[in-house]
Amino acid sequence: MPKQGDINQPTDPVSALVAQLQASSKYGGTAESTLRDVALQALHHYRGKAALKEARRKLHNIVADYLGDPDYEAAAAQIAAVHNDSAALRTVCAQIAEAHTSTRERLRLLDSFYPRLFALTGVPDSILDLACALNPVLIPFMGLPPTTRYEAYDLHRERVGFLNRFFEVVHPAGRAFEGDILVDPPTQQVDVVFIFKEVHRWEQRRSGSSRALLEALQAHWVLVSLPAQNMTGRRDLSDSYRNLFHKVIAGKNWEVIEVHFEDEMVFCVHKT
Ligand SMILES: C[S@@+](CC[C@H](N)C(=O)[O-])C[C@H]1O[C@@H](n2cnc3c(N)ncnc32)[C@H](O)[C@@H]1O
Repeated sequence: MPKQGDINQPTDPVSALVAQLQASSKYGGTAESTLRDVALQALHHYRGKAALKEARRKLHNIVADYLGDPDYEAAAAQIAAVHNDSAALRTVCAQIAEAHTSTRERLRLLDSFYPRLFALTGVPDSILDLACALNPVLIPFMGLPPTTRYEAYDLHRERVGFLNRFFEVVHPAGRAFEGDILVDPPTQQVDVVFIFKEVHRWEQRRSGSSRALLEALQAHWVLVSLPAQNMTGRRDLSDSYRNLFHKVIAGKNWEVIEVHFEDEMVFCVHKT
């Protein structure tokens, strides 16, 4: 029986571990579905403090806050101030994209990145950007019509809040959703899905999770990218990550076209 005053304390071990993670400053802003999934996995092998330690170890890699964040309040205000001036908007969006490693690395490829991908897929009417981080702020460089439905998913609450403020003024046909797409894969029909620079981490989180997601997606094209170099630019990762990707889709009869950029490889999977 819970004691008086303990009425709000979760009694099952998974909920208790989730509550502990939610109370931490580092993981309090992470989607509950992610915390629950990680807690469940940790409790398969550990109990008590060891389970908490294991959950935090997993979350370090999943949330990856070492990749960087802008000041979201300031970024939203900057965008609101310049959104009617396309040149100024591009400058501000590029500055915001600098704050996160994945988009910072993509900035130097921008002249060719989206044009080469859309030359293959056609300019999409609908896009899902999964595990998006700050990639949607590159919309002013994508050459999309304002009508393109752009749905972005991330497990980082503050990032999602900022992206919705960005969409409101820059691309009203877009929307960001907080959630864990490995736990709840989106299944709406779209032209193109972006899954950029995340599959290697998902395979560490749970081997086979990327394949299950690729199978669930209802899209003409799924564009999966992986880094071609490590973060310092000193190690070539292209062979090992190409092998990883081909292991993920082994046995599938999907057509795959690889588009190679200086430090990012994109595997364009044609599902239909
Ligand atoms: C390495 S960044 C990739 C960013 C972006 N795709 C890009 O290349 O510009 C990883 C992002 O994916 C998010 N993420 C990781 N796993 C996720 C999941 N299962 N569901 C939703 N978001 C996820 C993280 O919160 C983080 O914002």
